[in-house]
Amino acid sequence: MTRVFSGIQPTGEQHLGNFLGATRNWAKMQHETDAFFCVVDLHAITIRHDDRAAVRDGSVRLAQMLMAVGLDPEVCTLFVQSHVREHAELSWIMQCNVSYGELSRMTQFKDKSDQHDFISAGLFTYPALQAADILLYDTDEVPVGDDQRQHIEITRDIAERFNYHYGETFVLPEAVIPAAGARVMDLQQPTSKMSKSLDSPKGTVGLLDEPKQIEKKIKSAVTDNDGTVRFEVAEKPGISNLLSILGAATDRDPASLADEYEQYGPLKTDTAAAVIELLEPVQARYRELEADPAETARLLKLGADKAREIANSTMERVRTNVGLLTD
Ligand code: TYM
Repeated sequence: MTRVFSGIQPTGEQHLGNFLGATRNWAKMQHETDAFFCVVDLHAITIRHDDRAAVRDGSVRLAQMLMAVGLDPEVCTLFVQSHVREHAELSWIMQCNVSYGELSRMTQFKDKSDQHDFISAGLFTYPALQAADILLYDTDEVPVGDDQRQHIEITRDIAERFNYHYGETFVLPEAVIPAAGARVMDLQQPTSKMSKSLDSPKGTVGLLDEPKQIEKKIKSAVTDNDGTVRFEVAEKPGISNLLSILGAATDRDPASLADEYEQYGPLKTDTAAAVIELLEPVQARYRELEADPAETARLLKLGADKAREIANSTMERVRTNVGLLTD
C-alpha cells in the first residue's frame, strides 16, 4: 500500500492556503493509503516565539483542526513530531549528508531569514529535519502545496546520495501537488502566497473566520482595471487567484470557470459563498473538538506510539548503514 507522509507547522492560524493546498487532500488520501500526518512542532521552534505556550497550545489546536478537516486518527496516523525522538536523531544524520551550498539555495530560508532579526542555525538546516520526517517512514508520496516542492526535491537528493554512499536505505519520495489550490495567493497582495507570516489579516482567510469576515475579505480582494475575467496568473494575479480558489472549492477547472463570468462582482460573490459553504462543517466540528483537549492528547499519544514503531526500525537500519556502533 502506498505510504503517505506530510507535515504542518503548529504556529499561527490555519488559513485557506493550508486547507486547499494540503490538508483537505490529506483527508481524502487517508482512505486509500497508509497515511502519516505530523504536527511539526520542532520546525516551529526554528523561529523564536515570545510566548512559550504558543507552540504547545498550537499543537493541540492544530491537531483538532486537522481532525475537523476530516483526518480520522483511527484511519491515519496523526502525531506530534517531538513525541517521536527519531525525527531529531535522523535530522542530524541528514545534516551530515546535505551541503552548505544546497541549503543556501532554499528559497524558503531566504524569505524567512529576511523576516527575522535572529536567524537560527535551525532555520538554515530546516530542510534536513524535513527530509528526516519524510524518510523515516519509507514514504512514497508527500501531499503538499506548491511552496514545498523545493523541500521535497532536496529530500530526494539527500536520499539518493545516502543510498549511493551507504547502500540502499531510503525510499525516494514523490511530491503530490493538487491541480487547483496548490498556491493560494494573498487576497490583498496576489503576487505573494497566502501565509501565516505575511501579516496580512485582510488578505488571509482564516479557517475559523466568521462567514461575514470571509465575505468581506473576498469581496475586497485586489483585482485589476482590465474588466475581463480570464485565468492568466502572470497578467491577472488577483482574478486568477479567485478563479483558483473557486475552482478548488467546487472541484472545477479555474480556466473553464472564467468563461462563466463577465464581471468581477459575481465571481467574488460566488467565490465567497463557495468558501463559506466549504468551511462551515469544518468550523462546526472544530468547536466540538475544542471542548475536549484531553481526548485530543489521548489520540495524539496513540498516533505517536504507531509512528514510533516505524521510525524505530528505520533508525536501526540507518545507524547500521551509516556505520555507528550498534548494541
Ligand atoms: P506549512 O506549515 O507552512 O504548510 C502546511 C501545508 O500547507 C501548504 N500551504 C499552501 N498551499 C497552498 N497555498 C498556500 N498559500 C499555502 N500555504 C501553505 C504547504 O505547502 C504545506 O503542504 N515545511 C512544511 C512542513 C513540513 C513538512 C514536512 C511537509 C515539515 N516536515 C514533511 C511535508 C513533509 C511547512 O512549513 O508547511
